[in-house]
Amino acid sequence: MPDSEPAIAVIGSLNVDYVAKVGRLPVPGETVAASDLEIVHGGKGANQAIAARRQGCAVRMIGSVGEDDMGRSYIEYLKEEGLETDGIRLLAGISTGAAFISVDADGENTIVVCAGANGNTSPDQIRARDPFISESDALLAQFEVPLSAVVEALKIANRAGVLTVVNPSPMRSTFPWATVEIDYLIVNETEADEILEELPVELGAAPEIREFLLGRRINGLVVTRGSDSTLVISRDEAFEAPTLPVLPVDTVGAGDAFAGCFTARLASGESLREAVLAANCAGALTTLRTGAQQPIPDRDRVDQHRAQLGD
Ligand code: RIB
Repeated sequence: MPDSEPAIAVIGSLNVDYVAKVGRLPVPGETVAASDLEIVHGGKGANQAIAARRQGCAVRMIGSVGEDDMGRSYIEYLKEEGLETDGIRLLAGISTGAAFISVDADGENTIVVCAGANGNTSPDQIRARDPFISESDALLAQFEVPLSAVVEALKIANRAGVLTVVNPSPMRSTFPWATVEIDYLIVNETEADEILEELPVELGAAPEIREFLLGRRINGLVVTRGSDSTLVISRDEAFEAPTLPVLPVDTVGAGDAFAGCFTARLASGESLREAVLAANCAGALTTLRTGAQQPIPDRDRVDQHRAQLGD
């Protein structure tokens, strides 16, 4: 780690997660009974911000919540977690974002998100926080806030030469690829299929994938594949990185833990391979308990498990 904490700006969503535990997920038209309901902090933006903070980075969160009890208490909680929250707006007349999540006995889930205040995060808000981004070591963004705001943040980062990491989830086909430069795009297999169009998502296709990505000004692709190895294709490297074997209880937030840890490790000066291996540990360890943020591991816990993955 450098002497001072690396700084990461995160633009993204803050949700209240309503998590129902069910024996199995309902099919369309079906009602199932839940055995338990938990109400916890979530939202891909805040989850990834917490993950980066727990890896030892200074984290500046940019987003929006409603001017309601949920919104106010969310900001207080993030402050207690050590995040800089001046970039989060409290908006009157609109509720804090909410996610309705069902988790089955195998840890699989379905999620329905009501954007609420997240949907009002605007390019103006981002411009007003320009130094949060331009004076950071990395920018991390997802697609749970308006794309115009994400693009604005990426433009500021590009102008300032700040490392950019994007987790385009939930995937939206209207993102203006190639208008901004993305250093690393983190996707799951479904998102990879959508982005790469006809190209197979495999190491053997690395030269074609690289060329395709560079046409969209994406310098590196990281494909998480659940318990299977993570696929990485950058300008200079192409490799698979093993994951930590675990028995998942709840996979909600695992991808967010990966993205936050990955960005934090890169911003700390670690190699691409080391950042991916650490992120694989963070993602796997997050599945061992319910909830998106509480189970996200800190740096020491990730390092304790990292050795299990070899060189
Ligand atoms: O990635 C998990 C997150 O997706 C949940 O916390 C929920 O809020 C949704 O945004």
